[in-house]
Amino acid sequence: MQTEEAKTNQELKTEFLFEQLNWRYAVKKFDSTRRLSERQVQDLAEVLRLAPTSYGLQPFKFFIVTNQSVKEKLKPHAWNQPQITDSSHLVVIAAKQDLTQDDVNHYFERIVDVRKMPREQLADFENTVKEFAKNLSSSGNAHNWAARQCYIALGFLLEAAALLKIDACPMEGFVPSGFDEVLKLNEQGYGAVVLCALGFRAEDDAFGKMAKVRFPKHEIIEII
Ligand SMILES: Cc1cc2nc3c(=O)[nH]c(=O)nc-3n(C[C@H](O)[C@H](O)[C@H](O)COP(=O)(O)O)c2cc1C
Repeated sequence: MQTEEAKTNQELKTEFLFEQLNWRYAVKKFDSTRRLSERQVQDLAEVLRLAPTSYGLQPFKFFIVTNQSVKEKLKPHAWNQPQITDSSHLVVIAAKQDLTQDDVNHYFERIVDVRKMPREQLADFENTVKEFAKNLSSSGNAHNWAARQCYIALGFLLEAAALLKIDACPMEGFVPSGFDEVLKLNEQGYGAVVLCALGFRAEDDAFGKMAKVRFPKHEIIEII
């Protein structure tokens, strides 16, 4: 048996990773008296911002709802699931409804600004992305494509929350058009895709004590 002292830093980090991935579960019952600190909210917001996207286009926006009366208005559009109102913060992950040439221009202006590069140096890449956006938009697939980017952000958020010992529940059980209406998302060019309730589990949430149901490795992993 290895002692704690003998474990390398890397081994301890790996142990912590799996401890937290097993600790997390989709919380059904939040402790409604507990709130995330402002620091925790800001840290998770930064995690969302750091999520990767195809071409780096970031075709999404994250609406972090903490106002209780807004949550009450959203709840009936989410099958009255209690996580909507009992969680501390509800992240509504919304995707752009379209991907316009203006969106692409906005992105390239940002690259130039952040990386201090001349725009001309990006011309080939910019043309490729503009062509990509044009095809997506004209085929009516932009929102679906953007929605897939939203799920990457959701995955990032779930894992980071677990590592920060913050509880979460990913949620697809809602009517996007209802959320769009309450939060006026369409007016801003977005449509709700997926939710993530954040906060702290109630001690008596029965789901917290249940074993994880996952298929064995040999069924879902194949090394070729
Ligand atoms: C995209 C997505 C949508 C989900 N929607 C809901 C939901 O609306 N309500 C809910 O209680 N759980 C929801 N879940 C939770 C899943 O049921 C849960 O993650 C799955 O059973 C695995 O269990 P675990 O997360 O506790 O390990 C959702 C999970 C994902 C990833």
